[in-house]
Amino acid sequence: MTPPLTVRQALQTDASAIARIHNQGIEERGATFETALRTVEGIEAVLREKGDRYPTIVTVRGGDVVAWAAVSPYSSRECYAGIAEFSVYTERSARGTGAGRAAMEGLFRACEERGFWKLTSRVFPENRASLTLLGKLGFRQVGTHRRHAKVDGVWHDCIIVEKLLGEALEA
Ligand SMILES: CC(C)(COP(=O)(O)OP(=O)(O)OC[C@H]1O[C@@H](n2cnc3c(N)ncnc32)[C@H](O)[C@@H]1OP(=O)(O)O)[C@@H](O)C(=O)NCCC(=O)NCCS
Repeated sequence: MTPPLTVRQALQTDASAIARIHNQGIEERGATFETALRTVEGIEAVLREKGDRYPTIVTVRGGDVVAWAAVSPYSSRECYAGIAEFSVYTERSARGTGAGRAAMEGLFRACEERGFWKLTSRVFPENRASLTLLGKLGFRQVGTHRRHAKVDGVWHDCIIVEKLLGEALEA
């Protein structure tokens, strides 16, 4: 039987799994403009810098981290302090098994507890898996940035997505 999925806050000791999973997505070139591979030390430093304010959630199955979702600052302007940018990545062999959804749902809870009122990100129009996952999680497609940046010399558009949380949901 497949072990159940659980979610929890990331620990420093998860840095290696987070880096490995992120690097799969970077190498595939379908998820991000970034091409520099992550290192364990780099992830450890990012987790330290973010502290408790910008949570990283991991999905665990059978003791292994199989997905992660994290937020980072949207803007240094104080008026936007409740907006965060998010990322979500699932281990290649675990995709389509609910791990990304579980990490995102854990991230929503963690962000609401910290008073965030909006999550936003940019998604390549070709990234059907991400757009489907985010659509099912209640993200709205705000619009499209044309030719937002290049990956390996090729322009890509980006669909901007957003989801309201907590206080912003109240009528
Ligand atoms: C996008 C990504 C995070 C999705 O994570 P995942 O763990 O595979 O997704 P889940 O198994 O939790 O699926 C969640 C929902 O999305 C749908 N979905 C997932 N992958 C899909 C695909 N390739 N095509 C269509 N729908 C898909 C599932 O049907 C599921 O629906 P349900 O909850 O109603 O059953 C994963 O494909 C990934 O890591 N891709 C590479 C990195 C990336 O693109 N990150 C996002 C950057 S914006």
